[in-house]
Amino acid sequence: MMEHKRFYITTPIYYPSDKLHIGHTYCTVATDAMARYKRLCGYDVLFLTGTDEHGQKIEDKAKEAGVSPKEFVDRIVEGPQGVKDLWKLMNISNDRFIRTTDDYHVSSIQKIFKTMYEKGDIYKGEYVGKYCKPCESFWTESQLVDGKCPDCGREVQDAREEAYFFRLSKYADRIQHLLEDTDFLEPRSRVHEMVNNFIKPGLEDLCVSRTSFTWGVPVDFDPGHVVYVWVDALFNYTTALGFLNDRYHDYEKYWPADVHFVGKEIVRFHSIIWPAMLMSMDMPLPKKVFGHGWLLLDGGKMSKSKGNVVDPYLLAQRFGVDALRFFLLRTFPFGSDGNFSNEALINTINVDLANDLGNLLSRTVSMVSKYFGGTLPQAQAEDPEKDGDLVTLSSSLRGRYEEQMEKFAFQNALSEIFKVIDRANKYIDENAPWVLAKDMEQNGSRLAQVMYNLLEVLRITGILLAPFIPASAAEILRQVGACEDCRSWESAGVWGSLRKDVTVARGENLFPRIDMDKELSALEELAAQAKKAALPPLEVEPQLTEKVDFDTFCKSDFRAVKVKSCEAVKKSNKLLKFTLDDGTGTDRQILSGIAMYYKPEELVGKTLMAIVNLPPRKMMGLESNGMLISAVHTEHGEERLNLLMLDDKIPAGAKMC
Ligand code: MSP
Repeated sequence: MMEHKRFYITTPIYYPSDKLHIGHTYCTVATDAMARYKRLCGYDVLFLTGTDEHGQKIEDKAKEAGVSPKEFVDRIVEGPQGVKDLWKLMNISNDRFIRTTDDYHVSSIQKIFKTMYEKGDIYKGEYVGKYCKPCESFWTESQLVDGKCPDCGREVQDAREEAYFFRLSKYADRIQHLLEDTDFLEPRSRVHEMVNNFIKPGLEDLCVSRTSFTWGVPVDFDPGHVVYVWVDALFNYTTALGFLNDRYHDYEKYWPADVHFVGKEIVRFHSIIWPAMLMSMDMPLPKKVFGHGWLLLDGGKMSKSKGNVVDPYLLAQRFGVDALRFFLLRTFPFGSDGNFSNEALINTINVDLANDLGNLLSRTVSMVSKYFGGTLPQAQAEDPEKDGDLVTLSSSLRGRYEEQMEKFAFQNALSEIFKVIDRANKYIDENAPWVLAKDMEQNGSRLAQVMYNLLEVLRITGILLAPFIPASAAEILRQVGACEDCRSWESAGVWGSLRKDVTVARGENLFPRIDMDKELSALEELAAQAKKAALPPLEVEPQLTEKVDFDTFCKSDFRAVKVKSCEAVKKSNKLLKFTLDDGTGTDRQILSGIAMYYKPEELVGKTLMAIVNLPPRKMMGLESNGMLISAVHTEHGEERLNLLMLDDKIPAGAKMC
């Protein structure tokens, strides 16, 4: 009996190659809601998340940053606004956090690799194929789509090296059966994708070691090889329980996992490669893999480069952590893609949280305070006709909610809750407490019952909302005066659990309404500022401290000149030869070393600025009479030059002073 009361759930472990964005929080928030729900139901839950820290991409990024790979990942995992900080901010209740660079994990992976090798499921060969660096994925020619990575659509590189292979092909039939004939992979649509795109064309053996870089788990029996990052990463789900290591001791208790939540692009690894390797290791398979959709931005994939609209810190600071968590799971069906927008976020907050839930809470608590001084009287008058609908809907809510939660249908579970909240708001209008309050002697006990019913709705919905908005749900339960016993899962299914003479506690408005237009322009302004701040600092020449006396300066003769013709000087890749109208009636020739910055034809007809009283100078056998004035600065480490262009209304020969 105890066995089924444990629940092991995981998120993918994240690449600490960049700061995480709001899309990354989606899966972790969903996993957190599920873990909290199962704990609420009385399960002994283990919720694992972590970071996937090896691979060429990380090695390259560290090199770019001029630090060691370990220093690089430490900063992103443990540093300010790093991965761990983000999960703390989002109120994620993970029980364990694994880093694949942790010693215990590394040594387990070495043992696992060796076990599969000794069994003959890993063998040595030569890898010839294609490699997608950003995805850390190997592909055969036939798997490419238009010659590009089928997962991300980016360019792939040729790869050829001595390597170890895993006999994935050996497990093809068993995997196909697992996918087609069991509920191992959900949603069902992902099964067809896996079988049609990967299994039916023929599963090829998988390259599982690399020699072209070193940032990985070393193959201990063959120096120079490091374990393919996905082998290293997938087994985290078991090493974090203590499989083949002494760091933890609950592999027996929690494995197999009840569910792995993963994004749709990594379903292939989790539903084909992962079970095949477990089969090879004679280990039980996880009970389920659920492939969720992506949060999109403007219909495309989200990335940090899209600016602060996707920065979870900024969003949480402006809207609150619970509002953000709620939005993610209320707005998008978990199995499909959804488009993230600030409008949608603000709208969800205003409609569901401020109008429906927030109002119900604040109206109810303030009416109990106003009409009864905060404590309801024992004497209450039921009216089955008026209350029946609300009572039935609320007392059966837990069952409907549970049915959806068990299917990971978070959006539907929340819809069920909000149907009850909606009904309760209507119930207020139907029963018009403010009318009953006009004659307390006659209607006081009926008014008390109306208030009690509303508090009960808030208590039950508060309990069931806790997995989604934990801090706000606790505050709802506090405000409605729920005792410890009437906050439990059991009591969420029992109408009438609150004491009749309950005392409420007034509190702050949980979800203030947001002014959509104002907020959108504030966000736009912030986005513009962030864009500006992200521009690299310009390097300009330091100003001279040595002063020039005014008379000397006045001797410089700056004039507007118009370009009559311009051509490249033969045998020079720097010089352009200008024929200029300087207002004197005689053409002036100036040579300027700006051929890297301008094409001659684009300068013809322009009005430029030149100093015209410099002594003549010979360059490449040609005479230059003066110098064109330009502005110079450095950007991204490269020198940039812009000729000073004047308004065409300024006539040739006009003196600058
Ligand atoms: N390191 C691998 C996972 C190894 S698990 C053994 C990885 N890491 S990741 O950092 O690139 O992605 C982690 C998760 O975030 C993936 O499930 C991915 O689908 C998810 N998301 C990244 N961007 C996302 C959105 N915009 N929307 C929803 N999920 C997204 O893959």
